[in-house]
Amino acid sequence: MDGNVFHTTCTYPPSPPRSGACAPASGYPGGKTQSIHNPPVPFVTPISGGILPGKKIFISGVLNPNAQRFTVNLICGPHDGGGDIAFHFDVRIRVGGQRDVIVRNSCQGGGWGAEERHSPCFPFVPNAKFDIKIKTKPGKFKIAVNKQHLLEFRHRMKPLDRINTLQILGDLRLTEVRL
Ligand code: GAL
Repeated sequence: MDGNVFHTTCTYPPSPPRSGACAPASGYPGGKTQSIHNPPVPFVTPISGGILPGKKIFISGVLNPNAQRFTVNLICGPHDGGGDIAFHFDVRIRVGGQRDVIVRNSCQGGGWGAEERHSPCFPFVPNAKFDIKIKTKPGKFKIAVNKQHLLEFRHRMKPLDRINTLQILGDLRLTEVRL
């Protein structure tokens, strides 16, 4: 993949500067579930109505044979991947000296927050299928991988319905995204 995609600033991936991010999304829970099959990567989609407790996002895919990294971002608009990242779920299979770590973070106003790295296991394997479920609870996201609870991420950006974009990028093929 393009080596420029991963870098330390918050514009992720590179995109023009944004102004006034995080306008509240409206209309929740009017947004109905949509299922997108085999979308190309990188993948970006609006989250209809934004995120609120109860909202679930399902991602199924297959890691590339030589996968190094893939990322799921929940972003406070706009819909092209710019803007603050409320939840950055960064799966590093092989990045520099790092092996098999899932870095969680947020990125506000151009700066990354504190990383959360602990995980009871690392369920991602190159060339293998996986699924991820992100479930929104009032205080946190709960993440399950391959139908098993894996970890949690406490909400850092509120109100939650400002989070209105899902972005997935990196070394994977997507088979389904449901949200
Ligand atoms: C940086 C990396 C970013 C992002 C961030 C998370 O080192 O360049 O892409 O993953 O860590 O804390």
